[in-house]
Amino acid sequence: MNYSNILFEQKNHVGILIINRPDKLNALNDKTLDELHDCFSSINNDKDIYVVIITGSGEKAFVAGADISELNKLDKDSAKKFSEKGQSIFYSIENLGKPVIAAVNGFALGGGCELALACHIRYASDKAKFGQPEVNLGIIPGYGGTQRLTRLINPGRSAEMILSADIIDANEAYRIGLVSKVFPADELMNKAIELAEKISSKGQIAISLALKSVISTEELTDTEGQKLESDMFAYCCGTEDFKEGTSAFLEKRKPNFKNS
Ligand code: COA
Repeated sequence: MNYSNILFEQKNHVGILIINRPDKLNALNDKTLDELHDCFSSINNDKDIYVVIITGSGEKAFVAGADISELNKLDKDSAKKFSEKGQSIFYSIENLGKPVIAAVNGFALGGGCELALACHIRYASDKAKFGQPEVNLGIIPGYGGTQRLTRLINPGRSAEMILSADIIDANEAYRIGLVSKVFPADELMNKAIELAEKISSKGQIAISLALKSVISTEELTDTEGQKLESDMFAYCCGTEDFKEGTSAFLEKRKPNFKNS
């Protein structure tokens, strides 16, 4: 994969995607969004990649938002397409069927915070900063932020962040449940890779169905979600991995999952 604004590398079964416009604090311009879309389509088709990590290039930013020089040119019609395009790409990240970890290494503002929100797990460096400062520009979040942030933290906190445009630090993000863990900056990537390797070592059918069940809470009622969970649970019990996992426990050995 050869891109101008993102870098992609694979270590074992882990794909590492780096947004790479450090001179613009990794702001998401249209080309970067297209490359993200293309890269995630390839990841989706690549059976050898089990887990994805997204981070930002340089020491300062994860992603400092949508590119304001492009935003500035929008009118009412083009703005609708702009928002729908970003929403659709972030939806496809959330629904990739493989875990996506955001390793938030610096500013995650506007579309950058929304990108982190579309990931399944967020780890942050102690230098990370989060915010939805769109109202400072006379707009509102347009890549799913009003929805995902509100579900993840709570309506009051989400409204406070979005309406005040305040930027919060990593410890505050941890306190309100926006990120799972905070690490010293130089440990962040290793910790994200460690988690990705741990997830990669499990049976991937169970991983993808567990993820599907967790994500389903976004769209299903509790009754529908419980049904989906029991369908997925039953499906797992028909796999070789289930036989291997339970037998390995009983035989006091490590399981050797074949993802079948
Ligand atoms: N879109 C386009 N360019 C951006 C950008 C964005 N979202 N965020 C930063 N940049 C660019 C700056 O214009 C600057 O480019 P230049 O060197 O060509 O002038 C470069 O990145 C460095 O940013 P700078 O503002 O000089 O860094 P800073 O350390 O002084 O401030 C921020 C960092 C993050 C506080 C500041 O860049 C900022 O507020 N960015 C916009 C955040 C935002 O509103 N995001 C939501 C957009 S919807």
